[in-house]
Amino acid sequence: MSDRLIIFDTTLRDGEQSPGASMNLAEKLEIAHALRELGVDIIEAGFPIASPGDFEAVQAIAQQVEGPTICGLARCNAADIDRAWEALKPAMKPRIHVFLATSAIHREFKLHMAKDEIIRRAVEGVTRARNYLSDVEFSPEDAARTELDFLAEVVEKAIDAGATTVNIPDTVGFAVPEQYAAAIQHLKKNVRGIDKAVISVHCHNDLGLAVANSLAALKEGARQIECTINGLGERAGNCSLEEVVMAVKTRADYYGLESGINTRRIVPTSRLVSRVTGIPVQRNKAIVGQNAFAHEAGIHQDGMLKHAQTYEIMRPEDVGLLRTELVLGKHSGRHALRQKIRDLGYHLDDQQLQQVFEQFKTLADRKKTVYDADIEALAETVLHSGPAIWTLEAVTCNGGSGTVPSAAVVLWHRDGAVHKDAGTGDGPIDAIFKTIERLTGIDLKLKDYSVRSVTADEDAQGEAQIEAEHNGRTLRGRAVSTDIIEASAQAFLQVVNRALLRQQLRMNPQTEAVTAT
Ligand code: KIV
Ligand code: ZN
Repeated sequence: MSDRLIIFDTTLRDGEQSPGASMNLAEKLEIAHALRELGVDIIEAGFPIASPGDFEAVQAIAQQVEGPTICGLARCNAADIDRAWEALKPAMKPRIHVFLATSAIHREFKLHMAKDEIIRRAVEGVTRARNYLSDVEFSPEDAARTELDFLAEVVEKAIDAGATTVNIPDTVGFAVPEQYAAAIQHLKKNVRGIDKAVISVHCHNDLGLAVANSLAALKEGARQIECTINGLGERAGNCSLEEVVMAVKTRADYYGLESGINTRRIVPTSRLVSRVTGIPVQRNKAIVGQNAFAHEAGIHQDGMLKHAQTYEIMRPEDVGLLRTELVLGKHSGRHALRQKIRDLGYHLDDQQLQQVFEQFKTLADRKKTVYDADIEALAETVLHSGPAIWTLEAVTCNGGSGTVPSAAVVLWHRDGAVHKDAGTGDGPIDAIFKTIERLTGIDLKLKDYSVRSVTADEDAQGEAQIEAEHNGRTLRGRAVSTDIIEASAQAFLQVVNRALLRQQLRMNPQTEAVTAT
């Protein structure tokens, strides 16, 4: 049996099904390129029949992202499969992933189909997909709650019809490791021709067992794991890519498997996905959480200083966290900054580098110590701020008990005019947001607002994140500053600029797909 573990990333399909995680075309492309750099074997780019946006994204990824196999999801019906093929055609290595539920509860209440009907449709689906291409995956949805003998029968027929990968989803996160492993073992023993296909696992995390279940299945011969960055996905999410990959790497002694993942790209990819989706990573999340490599207890710190492996089973640099936290000072030059930005995994052009350099100098004047996280925050701001129609010139606000919260804001419009206004609100931040709305004429429905410190020092920069709705579309803004009031105003203004840009693009729709943020 092969000792190569195939990593199938479904951040752009199942991950996008996370509440609030929908992404636009440019964002999906950016993530797909990052997944290629990370070294995933397969990118499930979307569900082409689900919407024109999904179709376009799968097609664009198929056209532009070379290296990994590009996969599109389809139900077992002609329209879905034809549409998936249409989107995937440009890919060098396309895969169609067809699925059909098999559990008793889905058969009876969702599909109203008997077992023989399910088998007939599954075979038809796989056969139709195989007429288009040679790489076809079949998933019996809710497999983990399907009668084992029936599951074996469906899987066998799917392989007979030409499925090259058979995926065994725990769709509702119901399985526990021993039982899930036993199901894989049952298929290995009872499915004729099982060795002709790769066995894949796809676990949801409703009981917090997605990674444990996926790993248990490896011991029984599964060789493909379906997973997402940061464990994004329906409800409680999917198996987390970073956890499963690092478990297999760190415990190579136990699993004896190797993946093609460049683990040093794990943290940058996790941050990218978090920034794009606006879904923060919990601080104590394994591998990519802010605290994953932080040692607080004195005894641990002492042990670490004596020998890192006393309390550390992985090296932070192996997941892309640089150990050298302390970076540049105010006397550092452009050359050192360029090198640091490269080390952190960013590719900036000269103009972007110049912008970061200017912001870095201002920051170094305000802040005693500039950390890697500060530089990352500046690079991300420059990379993703987009063209500004309005720029913040000044902001002040007033709050506290016994006063009416108020704010004064000065904005520049790109035509050169300065606009000023002041107003009140439910709190000082609300007063700022309302004043900006009045000045720019853009009405936003705020859905989420958060502030966090980028580093742990007293003069840390604050990062403000905003999610707001404009004309039914969710837009996000993010900004950092040593002043959280300023960061909040900047993040809000970024959303305003995006809403205005979107309005302009709607008047000229040909350009929307490539430039909208
Ligand atoms: O969870 C699930 O069953 C799925 C299938 C489409 C594979 O996402
Ligand atoms: Zn799923």
